[in-house]
Amino acid sequence: MMKTRLTAFLAILMLFPLLLSLASAESVVAAGEGPASVSSISSVENVPLITLNNGVQVPQLGLGTQIQSLERDSSEAGRALLNNTSHDAVVAALQAGYRHLDTAHGYFNEPGVGQAIIDSGVPREEIWVTSKLWPSEFGEGTTLAAIDAMLERLQLDYLDCIYLHHPAGDYVGAWKDLEKAYRQGKVRALGISNFDNWPEAFSTIVDEMEIRPQILQIECHPFAQRLETRELAAKYGIQVECWYPLGHADDRLLNNEVLSAIAQAHGKSVVQIILRWHMQEGLVAVPGSTNPSHIQENIAIFDFELSDDEMTQIRSMNRGEEGRYFNLDYQRMGGFFTTLNE
Ligand SMILES: NC(=O)c1ccc[n+]([C@@H]2O[C@H](COP(=O)([O-])OP(=O)(O)OC[C@H]3O[C@@H](n4cnc5c(N)ncnc54)[C@H](OP(=O)(O)O)[C@@H]3O)[C@@H](O)[C@H]2O)c1
Repeated sequence: MMKTRLTAFLAILMLFPLLLSLASAESVVAAGEGPASVSSISSVENVPLITLNNGVQVPQLGLGTQIQSLERDSSEAGRALLNNTSHDAVVAALQAGYRHLDTAHGYFNEPGVGQAIIDSGVPREEIWVTSKLWPSEFGEGTTLAAIDAMLERLQLDYLDCIYLHHPAGDYVGAWKDLEKAYRQGKVRALGISNFDNWPEAFSTIVDEMEIRPQILQIECHPFAQRLETRELAAKYGIQVECWYPLGHADDRLLNNEVLSAIAQAHGKSVVQIILRWHMQEGLVAVPGSTNPSHIQENIAIFDFELSDDEMTQIRSMNRGEEGRYFNLDYQRMGGFFTTLNE
């Protein structure tokens, strides 16, 4: 009797790794066959490709398309200016070799970005296109319809990545719909944005949902290097992508003495040094710019390398959470994000 129990116990012990892998297998489901299956992304201008936890590859450097200074004017003329400006920046970026674009419903510029993809002449399937759903679009049933509306605004039939923009509203229902869109082959990777600011929401999505996110988008730059969040994401096999990679062009960062000295040593600009640091840290970065010469400058960072000592100097600039520019307590203020005033 004792021997039988011991044998059963040993058998369970031996099966444990298999049971564990079956339990986590669901979290790495490949995207379903669908419109997204045509994707064909390769490295252009030496921009590295990073392989996500589902095997899909994302260009490490992209163009951020949010233009905060033009967002506030919601008149027809204001929205036209915003979309035309975004359009021209995206065309300039695609022509300079960028193959990764970051937009959002909340930036009110998806039509301009989508039209620019067509006008650029670069085949859509060679570009990684990301957009984000606003919390007012979260909820089972609601989110699937919102994804179709997003595709229509962008004139696309699939997205490469869709983020939940903020941890607010019914993000669980929204994630279930994102999983459906992923299984239908309408999106190649799923992301959460700003979920670092609410650990409970992060854990709900990462630990409890069927499909684990591929990417986490967070504020990250030399003043706020987000080491703990990056470690947590790595533990789950989630790629970190940085917003405000240039600290939103804060003078204190762009005129920093350490960065200026490194820039001078390489004959590069401070912005190029910051972006090169992101690349060598293994981060995906989406610097924003509407200036064609800045757009070209920002992708010209693959012909030099920062030394270990230079990387250490930049790492020592980290001010932790105090170095952040935008840090919100979503648990208390999440309601603020549940409406979107077009
Ligand atoms: N998930 C989120 O909640 C969230 C939040 C914020 C942003 N984002 C995303 O992250 C992207 C990047 O953020 P961001 O654009 O606000 O900040 P950023 O990339 O840190 O900085 C953009 C600023 O840097 C300037 N700049 C760019 N290249 C430059 C260069 N070579 N020399 C000098 N200045 C340069 C730009 O001005 P010029 O136009 O003059 O070049 C712009 O003012 C956004 O576009 C958006 O896609 C996401």
